[in-house]
Amino acid sequence: MKAMAKEVTHGHGDVLEIGFGRGASTEMIHAEGVRSHTIIESNDHSLNHYFSPWRDRHKEQDIKMVHSRWQEALDQLDTYDGIFFHAFPLDEAEFIEPVVQSITFAEHFFATAASLLRPGGVFTYLTTEIDSMSRRHQRALFQHFSRISMSVQEVNVPEDTHDTWWADSMIIIRAEK
Ligand SMILES: C[S@@+](CC[C@H](N)C(=O)[O-])C[C@H]1O[C@@H](n2cnc3c(N)ncnc32)[C@H](O)[C@@H]1O
Repeated sequence: MKAMAKEVTHGHGDVLEIGFGRGASTEMIHAEGVRSHTIIESNDHSLNHYFSPWRDRHKEQDIKMVHSRWQEALDQLDTYDGIFFHAFPLDEAEFIEPVVQSITFAEHFFATAASLLRPGGVFTYLTTEIDSMSRRHQRALFQHFSRISMSVQEVNVPEDTHDTWWADSMIIIRAEK
């Protein structure tokens, strides 16, 4: 999450984040320093229990919360220097197409990310690729982005993890328009 926060804040400009969750990545993005931070989150519990107290601790900063699914919020958005996508499927339909039939969950957001990114902007997301990127995955990115670079990030997954990630590394992607 830290590695992705570094990528998305490369120019310390305007950042869009999809999926607040508990705000761990949001805090990391802030630690890197941004001009403004727009966050889209659809879940009431995440907003009330995690976002509200986090927002109170960052009163001075330029933070905009869009309480919606990103698919229904496009008309409220601008263009950005960095975009970080970390959502997950909310129902069975979102599991079938964007997970089972895609190379990575974020694939259904690629075209939108490219349309919201300023020239030279950076898009990153949870790749769910362990130690390299499949050609299918790279091809999907090159349909929307002119340059991609990647690095292997070691991750220390605890034995008793309840998370859905089990490998000891993940590819960090930097896709540029
Ligand atoms: C994995 S969590 C994000 C975790 C976050 N990066 C963190 O560090 O805590 C995914 C979040 O995305 C939200 N989400 C899922 N689908 C969404 C959508 N279509 N639009 C907006 N938010 C969505 C979920 O409600 C959930 O809070």
